[in-house]
Amino acid sequence: MSQTSSADEHAQDLAAESLASGSPTAWFESLYDAAGRGEAEIPWDRGTPHPLLSAWFAQHPEEATGDGRTAIVPGMGPGHDSELLASLGFRTSAFDIAPTAVAQVRSAHPDSAVDYRVADLFELPEEWRGNFDLVLESMTVQSMPRDVRARATAAIRSLVAPGGVLLLIGGVLPAEVDPAEGPPWRLTRSEIEAFGADGLALQGIEQDADGIRYRAEFRSR
Ligand SMILES: C[S@@+](CC[C@H](N)C(=O)[O-])C[C@H]1O[C@@H](n2cnc3c(N)ncnc32)[C@H](O)[C@@H]1O
Repeated sequence: MSQTSSADEHAQDLAAESLASGSPTAWFESLYDAAGRGEAEIPWDRGTPHPLLSAWFAQHPEEATGDGRTAIVPGMGPGHDSELLASLGFRTSAFDIAPTAVAQVRSAHPDSAVDYRVADLFELPEEWRGNFDLVLESMTVQSMPRDVRARATAAIRSLVAPGGVLLLIGGVLPAEVDPAEGPPWRLTRSEIEAFGADGLALQGIEQDADGIRYRAEFRSR
């Protein structure tokens, strides 16, 4: 990571232990658990919806009214994005592999309209296949090692309904960063473009003003 904070370093230490023991995901539960005890910070918890998600709705006001359309946030973590989608009128589902993340978000939003669940991106319920008008993938795929990237990409893609939209938000991979080093394992341009398959077409990729984050938009034909 560039501009590494102590929260990032703690997360990276937990991830390294988890990967060394053969689990690419166990560290998320450890991190949320430690954060719940006040012993760690969640590096990706900015306390608000992702600015590139809010900016997309500002740029596309016709999309900012859910009107009962369906939305899902894989690996929703602290849940700020899923809460925004529900507040706009999307029938919103969100899931995370870390049970403590799900417990924490339910506790933070006891009256939430979001259907929060513990679920694994690699074992999605069959009824979710092709079921969501808006899929928001924010930094979850990049949090997994590259050797599962193709499976993760296909799993995200499988959630999009006919006529639906996939928004992909992540960190730009700096030229000086070794792509093998992570987390995060930021997506290369070709890994971003790989979401554009099985009927999904890339509409465009935008970066934020400082060139640190991107948002790619895909639409189902
Ligand atoms: C870097 S965080 C991003 C969280 C949130 N999307 C955001 O933008 O703030 C990645 C999240 O994905 C979750 N995650 C990792 N692997 C997963 C998997 N296989 N299935 C579901 N969630 C997963 C982690 O627990 C974590 O909450």
